[in-house]
Amino acid sequence: MADQPFVTDIQTLRARARQHIERGAVTPGYRANRETVIKILNEALATEIVCVLRYKRHFFMATGINAQSVAQEFLQHANEEQAHADQIAQRIVQLGGEPNFSPEGLTTRSHSEYVEGKSLIDMIKEDLVAERIAIDSYRDMINYFGNDDPTTRRLMETILAMEEEHADDLASLLEELGA
Ligand SMILES: [Fe+2]
Ligand SMILES: [Fe+2]
Repeated sequence: MADQPFVTDIQTLRARARQHIERGAVTPGYRANRETVIKILNEALATEIVCVLRYKRHFFMATGINAQSVAQEFLQHANEEQAHADQIAQRIVQLGGEPNFSPEGLTTRSHSEYVEGKSLIDMIKEDLVAERIAIDSYRDMINYFGNDDPTTRRLMETILAMEEEHADDLASLLEELGA
């Protein structure tokens, strides 16, 4: 252990950085399986897009006595899911992949579902279910990335924290509405 340098020796590090510069952020020290990471991130991207669409639908369809404040919550979530989608797409490109925005197969790639819901309460419940699915699936992704791709892991950790906030917001709404 005594002779073991903390990082790869600097000469090797410099030489490696000069090879394959067209790969941008992906260096030879990248330890994860890039293809798998891109595939997983495309599933997260699909999940976020489906969530944007569902929250938008709910925003426009919210009616009733409590509709105003709930609709604002739906809109805020929609915008935050859109920001997540953008961040994930950007990371896919950084890794040399292509973000899949194709409507074809979107709901299959997505982990969360698109459920319209009839009443305001139904909508909130469906959104809560979707958030809980995203939370479990992102947690699995984070475990998978581990130390092999810390940047992707951190991105998904930040997004996971917000999905937990979303779930909490929705649970509070249900409680306020006595559902
Ligand atoms: Fe999200
Ligand atoms: Fe969310």
